[in-house]
Amino acid sequence: MSEQTKSPFHINILTIFPEFFESPLSTGVIGKAIEKEIFSVECTDIRAFATDKHQTTDDLPYGGGAGMVMKPEPLVGALESARQNHGDLPRIYLTPQGEPFRQPLARKLAEGDGFILVCGRYEGIDARVREGWIDHEVSIGDFVLTGGEPAALIMLDAITRLLPGVLGNPESIVEESFSTDMLDYPHYTRPRSFRGMDVPEVLFSGHHAKIEQWRREQALKMTEQRRPELLKKDK
Ligand SMILES: C[S@@+](CC[C@H](N)C(=O)[O-])C[C@H]1O[C@@H](n2cnc3c(N)ncnc32)[C@H](O)[C@@H]1O
Repeated sequence: MSEQTKSPFHINILTIFPEFFESPLSTGVIGKAIEKEIFSVECTDIRAFATDKHQTTDDLPYGGGAGMVMKPEPLVGALESARQNHGDLPRIYLTPQGEPFRQPLARKLAEGDGFILVCGRYEGIDARVREGWIDHEVSIGDFVLTGGEPAALIMLDAITRLLPGVLGNPESIVEESFSTDMLDYPHYTRPRSFRGMDVPEVLFSGHHAKIEQWRREQALKMTEQRRPELLKKDK
């Protein structure tokens, strides 16, 4: 598909709490980008696809044990409806058991046409839905949240800021943590002296090569101290 005819990037979030996304999706850079129709987001209420009069979305686990499990019928109904409306966007389930979400995956997803995110709650979703209707599973880190909604927001934010036109200055994503194998260098703004702490002299030198070199050294130092594994080629 040529750049001109490419449909706008679309994200469909399947959740039992669509209201969770109201404020974040209307705020700041993300809110503005949605307003400018650089990408679109739809929050689908899984409950609307429940098949009983109480609109039940969870049930007791077979085999017993703690917690509830998200029922397959409403979820699959919501997934099928999302596919009907937006073609074959990849269906991603958010789970601590998924592939760790890192910058290369954010970049890869930003190159596509969008995706469908499934937010779990309770003990998670029925395993048959994962087997039959999910293309990819992603984790935002080695910890357990109460639900997939904060994870969906994190993914949405990290991916959509990489889309052309979302950030005011596209250069911002060229030199930042993880764009190379290093963390970012330290940043300073006015005033030049703050409570006895001065901005490094080199930043006033006007000598671009020297500033560049200082920033590279600082980035390297920061990475060696905090994330040495990023510097290893075979990580
Ligand atoms: C309480 S958690 C379920 C945890 C699950 N029983 C386990 O031990 O792996 C409920 C939901 O939160 C979401 N969630 C929790 N931690 C997450 C993480 N680290 N990354 C992505 N989603 C997460 C998932 O959608 C999950 O279905």
